[in-house]
Amino acid sequence: MNNPIIEVKDLYKTYYNGNIPLEVLRGIDLTVDKGEIVSIVGESGCGKSTFLNVVGGLDSTTSGQILINQERIDEMSENDLSYFRNRNIGFVFQFHHLLPDFTAIENVMLPYLTHQFDRKKASQLAMEILHQVKLDKRADHRPNQLSGGEQQRIAIARAIINNPGIIFADEPTGNLDEKTSHEIQELLWNLREKFQLTILLVTHNKQIAEQADRKVTLSYGKIERD
Ligand SMILES: Nc1ncnc2c1ncn2[C@@H]1O[C@H](COP(=O)(O)OP(=O)(O)O)[C@@H](O)[C@H]1O
Ligand SMILES: [Mg+2]
Repeated sequence: MNNPIIEVKDLYKTYYNGNIPLEVLRGIDLTVDKGEIVSIVGESGCGKSTFLNVVGGLDSTTSGQILINQERIDEMSENDLSYFRNRNIGFVFQFHHLLPDFTAIENVMLPYLTHQFDRKKASQLAMEILHQVKLDKRADHRPNQLSGGEQQRIAIARAIINNPGIIFADEPTGNLDEKTSHEIQELLWNLREKFQLTILLVTHNKQIAEQADRKVTLSYGKIERD
């Protein structure tokens, strides 16, 4: 590894249902280099989403260490972590989670406006990124006026407006047909080049999984293959 951007060390995550523990992640070690696209595959329920959420700082660890850009995010306070996430990590989910009453460009602007209240700069930046995802002409449309693939492209634009360096995508094409999935894949691969992104991608799409630089298979909360 010459330039690790994500380092996961002996990560455990246990959920409790009342007193009953459910060990979901059971000792995961993974290092990802800057600029890599890593796909994460495995059977439903094996812990893929949990892994992304914990490594991305959306959910807490039970034990182990997570370093992103050499910083221990598992030791950060809630405030520091949310600031760190906002600047360093973009998330894309299976369902776009765009705000229905906001236009495409307003949705893209939001993560920027949470740390810098400059509407003019935000809308300028958002427009540039909408151009990158080829939706600048749809800037003033609301999510329900866009197709599933277009909604997902807006969600990707929103994920990168703060120039995060890392994208965590959890089944970003899970809701899309084959052709649209392929378009989303091409977009992510292009954005990787353009913005030097590192991408961790959970997917059930075999073609996408195979075209990643690395494919990591999870099984019962452990890495089975890398
Ligand atoms: N917040 C939670 N509380 C309790 N159990 C959870 C929670 N999130 C996920 N789980 C459980 O953890 C296991 C792994 O879930 P998940 O990470 O979503 O798997 P995958 O994404 O691979 O399908 C499942 O058994 C799921 O029910
Ligand atoms: Mg999942």
